[in-house]
Amino acid sequence: MYVRAVAALATVTGSAVIGVLVLPAAAQATTRHDSPVIIAHRGASAYAPENTLEAVDEADDLGFDWVENDVQRTKDGALVIIHDTTLNRTTDVEELYPDRAPWNVKDFTAAEIAKLDAGSWKGAEFAGQRVPTLHQYLRRVDHNRQKLLMEIKSPELYPGIEAQIMRELRKDGWLSRGHVKRRLVIQSFSADSVRTVHTLRPDIITGFLGTPAVAELPSYAAFTDQINPSNTTLSADYVKAVHALKGVHKKPLEVHTWTVNDAATTQRVAGYGVDGIITNAPDVVRRALRG
Ligand code: G3P
Ligand code: CA
Repeated sequence: MYVRAVAALATVTGSAVIGVLVLPAAAQATTRHDSPVIIAHRGASAYAPENTLEAVDEADDLGFDWVENDVQRTKDGALVIIHDTTLNRTTDVEELYPDRAPWNVKDFTAAEIAKLDAGSWKGAEFAGQRVPTLHQYLRRVDHNRQKLLMEIKSPELYPGIEAQIMRELRKDGWLSRGHVKRRLVIQSFSADSVRTVHTLRPDIITGFLGTPAVAELPSYAAFTDQINPSNTTLSADYVKAVHALKGVHKKPLEVHTWTVNDAATTQRVAGYGVDGIITNAPDVVRRALRG
């Protein structure tokens, strides 16, 4: 059922031939593609509140295997899924805890965060959605047989978070051979954090978020498999320079770019030959790739 695939739809965009390749979904983490892998950014966050279980399910309903999320840590040491380092944009924390500005994630306990409504800001129909714990999130992604591009968000605020994430992944079965090989990528804007993940678990596929200078790419290839830049910084030459190198697992270094939410940008970055497109609106990207 999750062997998504297929098809004979090949379209020419500029000089690039974009096809939809028949691939078992499970081979996507490390296999090169004729068509970029589509990753639902913070879940299908154009249609459901970002980083909630509803956003994971929405991606699944639309037929997408890969979801991206952001992991941070509470005051009492729980791992939770939220993008901002503060709670006020995506929850009702200001109503529940008016005296706790600036409402940092790291200043609230897991029990306090569990009380917050993380859905209403997006629409009344999402009222009652919660900030998931990493444990809850991993269970839902597993239940849906999806795959996870996990971002360690602002790791400088959370010393030791990499080792803690490893412990949680192990407990939840996400360090099994199948998960590590096909269903998990860990990325961060912090090179130190990505390097730490690689040191702790050399078999995990990793990504660096950013656009290092071409001359510096070989040093990144020593600890990562993916260079994941903003689409606004991307060029065909840059993608070519990344692809010319082998990543830490001795496969060509990949490029997964963000955050691409419209057809024109999709076609531009696909024309550069990127390996993955991270998007709030995965259906829009899929349509654009199909021409
Ligand atoms: O996965 C790429 C993207 O998530 C990086 O930016 O700010 O949305 O976490 P941000
Ligand atoms: Ca992110």
